[in-house]
Amino acid sequence: MHQIEKIELLRVEGLKKVFRSGTADLVLFENLSFSVGKGEMLAIVGESGAGKSTLLHILGALDAASAGAVYCGHLQLGSLSDEAAAEFRNREIGFVWQFHYLLPEFTALENVAMPLLVRGAKRQDAERESAKWLREVGLETRAHHLAGELSGGEQQRVALARALVTRPQLLLADEPTGDLDNRTAESVFALITRLHSDYRLTSLLVTHNFAFARRCDRVLRLQQGRIEEVTPESLPA
Ligand SMILES: Nc1ncnc2c1ncn2[C@@H]1O[C@H](COP(=O)(O)OP(=O)(O)OP(=O)(O)O)[C@@H](O)[C@H]1O
Ligand SMILES: [Mg+2]
Repeated sequence: MHQIEKIELLRVEGLKKVFRSGTADLVLFENLSFSVGKGEMLAIVGESGAGKSTLLHILGALDAASAGAVYCGHLQLGSLSDEAAAEFRNREIGFVWQFHYLLPEFTALENVAMPLLVRGAKRQDAERESAKWLREVGLETRAHHLAGELSGGEQQRVALARALVTRPQLLLADEPTGDLDNRTAESVFALITRLHSDYRLTSLLVTHNFAFARRCDRVLRLQQGRIEEVTPESLPA
């Protein structure tokens, strides 16, 4: 048997986040350390208010830590200027949120093309690539429909296409199925799983759904300011 060596993509060292509320400081978490290997699919679980979204924002260079560091390859995210952080997000990360944040007055295709246009792609190229991604998520027939007229599950598929159209290494998803009924949630989660492996992504998913977390390679539980790795099988089915 060959031992497959893990290639590290993300490394978190001694991460701390403090929010100031009035005169008091709320220490949301501290001393968080973990690393994520290339190609892994990780679930982050924990009670409401535990700090999962905050952690994901820091990992995606959308928010700054109060102490500690996040490394992605040789980059230390906390050391990036605002401009460099924006560039890092556009190049390396695909985000999916519980609420899709599509532009409702634009078509599905235009929404997916947006990040490519932001980075300066020609419209024709952006639209060709976006059409391909709408096919990937099973929505080629909806390309010219307004985003606001699509169902919740369809909107989340468009959001996934928009997240991946720039071919990021890292997919960060914050409760991507949280706003969907069970059947639709299952189909969106299955789609994420397939895209994760087809495109060799590294994926971190915040979820309250233990059945989905059990299907990930690893599970991190954020609880009372600490992070603990648990085995997926140990979660209640
Ligand atoms: N900008 C902010 N200023 C002050 N407090 C904040 C800020 N952002 C988040 N918090 C607080 O930090 C805590 C954690 O919030 P966070 O959104 O990270 O939790 P969560 O684990 O994602 O919860 P949920 O499962 O409900 O989404 C909450 O108590 C929240 O009120
Ligand atoms: Mg949250």
